[in-house]
Amino acid sequence: MEMRKLVTALMLAVGVAVLAYAAGSEPPYWAFFWGPADPPFKDDGAVKHVPGSNKGFTITQIHDLYDVPDWFPEDHPSMPEPVLHGRKGEVPACGYCHLPNGLGRPENAELAGLPAAYIVQQMQDFKNGLRKSSEPRMGPPKYMLEVAMHATGADVTTAADYFAKLTAKPWIRVVETDMAPRTHFAGSMLMPDETGAKEPIRDRIIELPENVELTELRDSHSGFVAYVPKGSIRRGEVLVTTGGSTLIGGRMIPGKTTSCGVCHGPNLEGLANVPPLAGRSPSYLVRQLYDFQSGARHGVRAVLMRPVVQNLTVNDMLDIAAYVASRRPQ
Ligand code: HEC
Ligand code: HEC
Repeated sequence: MEMRKLVTALMLAVGVAVLAYAAGSEPPYWAFFWGPADPPFKDDGAVKHVPGSNKGFTITQIHDLYDVPDWFPEDHPSMPEPVLHGRKGEVPACGYCHLPNGLGRPENAELAGLPAAYIVQQMQDFKNGLRKSSEPRMGPPKYMLEVAMHATGADVTTAADYFAKLTAKPWIRVVETDMAPRTHFAGSMLMPDETGAKEPIRDRIIELPENVELTELRDSHSGFVAYVPKGSIRRGEVLVTTGGSTLIGGRMIPGKTTSCGVCHGPNLEGLANVPPLAGRSPSYLVRQLYDFQSGARHGVRAVLMRPVVQNLTVNDMLDIAAYVASRRPQ
């Protein structure tokens, strides 16, 4: 009984400390971008093309949430119903947002190669209110919640099997720089200003399409480039590989976090049902680290991430994400 009281008191204290910590900072806009939704697409009736594909789609077809435009069907096994069509008016197709090859975009998540059991668990966490976004004004995570609410158990297991069989590929080029393109919010993600203007990157990661036009056509061969501050990859490497611990006079002084490889695999390639991290979107990674810390993401297995993120600042999360995103997916 006494023990139980003590444990409860301790848990409360930790909870309060975590809340107080996270409350000190706003979710960083460069990872949790939001703004007005795009105006409806204008379809000029023309059939569009992308390099290397013999397919053609109109703008209306490209933005059909219930019949995913697939430029490169030869890249992946045939998409099952929940991934290709979803259910009209109820559940949009997973492949629309996450792309048929599962590589995803900065505003959502890469699903290619995630363990099927992990995907199923996350869908339950979303559905049960255990996984939300720290920035309620950001649109796409809200749409994901809607999807999880309405997808059936069969939809979820079918989709999970499909995405788990796909292979993650290099998709995001990480570039250290002092200056980054000036950006604006464009419906779902940040886009470079048309003027081509640059501005100091400061303490931000700016993740943009390699080719704006092709990304707007949802070309699943046209990836992203993430501009990160100079020195961030190296600082992130130290945190990820050592947790920031140092050896002083033969004594190991613990760092502000734990090395990630023990759970996520030595090359961050994932281990059993712990998800892979290498090469994934740094915007997504920062959102997750921030959400674990703020408590917005507190699913069944998120408790293992609690001590990892507890003492991290947003700049630490930035450094970690810069390093992790720069690793080759395995
Ligand atoms: C309208 C767009 C949209 C659709 C459709 C969609 N998702 Fe998502 N999904 C998202 C967004 C956005 C996120 C990232 C949320 C965040 O940043 O916290 C996400 C995240 C996820 C994650 C978490 C990944 C991880 O690494 O933890 C899983 C799993 C997932 N989606 C599965 C699915 C499945 C399965 C379907 C189809 C049944 C689906 N999604 C359909 C937008 C979408
Ligand atoms: C004690 C084991 C453990 C350690 C150490 C650990 N993680 Fe995790 N991590 C997990 C588990 C388990 C999950 C899945 C949580 C869930 O189901 O919500 C996870 C999830 C994540 C996610 C979300 C991935 C996604 O697909 O949404 C990120 C990002 C992450 N960890 C980063 C890190 C980083 C960076 C480190 C090192 C600084 C680290 N983790 C150390 C166990 C660990």
